[in-house]
Amino acid sequence: MNKSLKYFTLSALGLICFSSCGDDGLTEADLSAPSGYALSAGTSTIFSTSSFAYDGEADWVVGELKKRFMRGDKLYDDARTSSNGYGGGLGPVYAGYSCGSCHRNAGRTKPALWEESEGSGAYGFSSMLVYVTRKNGVFFQDYGRVIHDQAIYGVQPEGKIKVQKHFQTFQFPDGEEYELCYPEYSISEWYADSIKPEDLFCSVRIPLRHVGMGQIMALDPNEIEALARKSNYPEWGISGRCNYIVERGQRRLGVGGNKAQHADLTVELGFSSDMGVTNSRYPEEICEGQRQIQQGSMMGLLYDELDISTKDMEDVDLYLQALGVPARRNVNNKTVRRGQELFFQAGCALCHATTLHTRPRGTTLLNGTQLPWLGNQTIHPYSDFLLHDMGSEIMGVGLNDNYVSGLARGNEWRTTPLWGIGLQEKVNGHTYFLHDGRARNFTEAIMWHGGEAEASKNKFKNMSRTDRHALVRFLESL
Ligand code: HEC
Ligand code: HEC
Repeated sequence: MNKSLKYFTLSALGLICFSSCGDDGLTEADLSAPSGYALSAGTSTIFSTSSFAYDGEADWVVGELKKRFMRGDKLYDDARTSSNGYGGGLGPVYAGYSCGSCHRNAGRTKPALWEESEGSGAYGFSSMLVYVTRKNGVFFQDYGRVIHDQAIYGVQPEGKIKVQKHFQTFQFPDGEEYELCYPEYSISEWYADSIKPEDLFCSVRIPLRHVGMGQIMALDPNEIEALARKSNYPEWGISGRCNYIVERGQRRLGVGGNKAQHADLTVELGFSSDMGVTNSRYPEEICEGQRQIQQGSMMGLLYDELDISTKDMEDVDLYLQALGVPARRNVNNKTVRRGQELFFQAGCALCHATTLHTRPRGTTLLNGTQLPWLGNQTIHPYSDFLLHDMGSEIMGVGLNDNYVSGLARGNEWRTTPLWGIGLQEKVNGHTYFLHDGRARNFTEAIMWHGGEAEASKNKFKNMSRTDRHALVRFLESL
């Protein structure tokens, strides 16, 4: 971020600014907590703490916009069927039957990883996406990028997903214990060629919270690129970089997805790749070219018509972009304030950046609708939207998934925005974190940080029990 801009913002908040600059460009202000950050997303901030806190519209959504928001919400949540026409088009193979089946209440549906039945439920390995490649990075022709472990009547799912959990207990220097779990996935019952485990890389993802989707889409790419230039703190071992996506001849900055592999809201991709719902951007069935189709068993199930219109998708897009961002809670609580100081002192904010800005003009949706309200806002997403090497050491694997997305390598992940994270338990009934949900609480999520985040993680590790608790209380207030 541009320094003068930052000082301007800080002074506007009535704070005293430090200007002592270290050799590496880090200032004291980078490592200490500013106050007054409760309004997470400017005019889109809402004050809900209920289980619908992620799913409510911003205050500016009124009149016609509100009608379209409600319509988008419905299209997002309604279970699709395999019939032709409105609300249909599901499959033939799919991973989820509605957007909301995976992103319950615009959050993260409880991952099957931690369900009692572990994937043997009615909806298969529900709510997670399993990306597969050969060890040399090439996709399997018969399967594509994502395993569709569900299918409509008469069609064979692409495979069955299984997980084996490995547990290990560790100790903080003060003696308190914590346990980490590494989930190892395998796939059986492949519908076509069986792929040998030695030739398979699986990268598993749980859904992301939609909190602040509109603001993320309205981010100013220049500000993120400036942040990437600034994000180089050798004494912390941190250096973030941008992901870029080349699609339809255009090179754009990636901001969405766990590897910043999306430059846009991916509504069309969600319908196509996750649900088999064809649309103007992805007119082919996802299983097109698969052997089961060529053999004719699915022929009667494929239709020439697109399964969803651009108008419908624009309302889903509008719904996501117009969601309110829940305000922070308990900001003046003493423990929370102490936790906030520690968050800065431990260098968490060097990646989980507190303050960014949206483009002046806001956003234009798929079909041309303008959302000027998303423009010119000061926001507090707690992310730099950059890629960081998160290490491959812990339990012999770390967070490395060996999966390449654009410029992102296996060990690189986009800093997850933390706004709204404290309400995840209320909204979705669980505290599973990280890209594949392997962490069962905040402490485990932090202790999986390695690579560029090693020094920061060690600060947390070496804190007193009381301080670690305070830092977690701060995360709960986001
Ligand atoms: C099978 C489960 C599943 C279904 C169905 C699904 N998603 Fe997702 N979605 C995910 C997962 C998992 C991710 C994280 C993907 C990643 O990082 O690669 C994700 C990511 C996203 C993102 C990026 C979020 C961010 O913060 O950058 C958006 C937007 C999104 N989904 C919207 C949708 C919409 C709209 C639909 C319905 C049309 C949909 N999803 C259907 C599982 C699902
Ligand atoms: C080098 C950059 C970096 C630093 C420093 C860092 N993080 Fe992270 N953080 C990340 C990335 C990248 C992820 C996503 C990792 C994944 O999902 O595999 C993440 C994920 C998280 C998550 C899980 C979010 C979710 O919704 O799943 C939490 C919580 C978190 N960080 C808290 C912290 C705290 C607290 C600190 C300081 C002790 C910290 N982080 C330091 C980059 C960083």
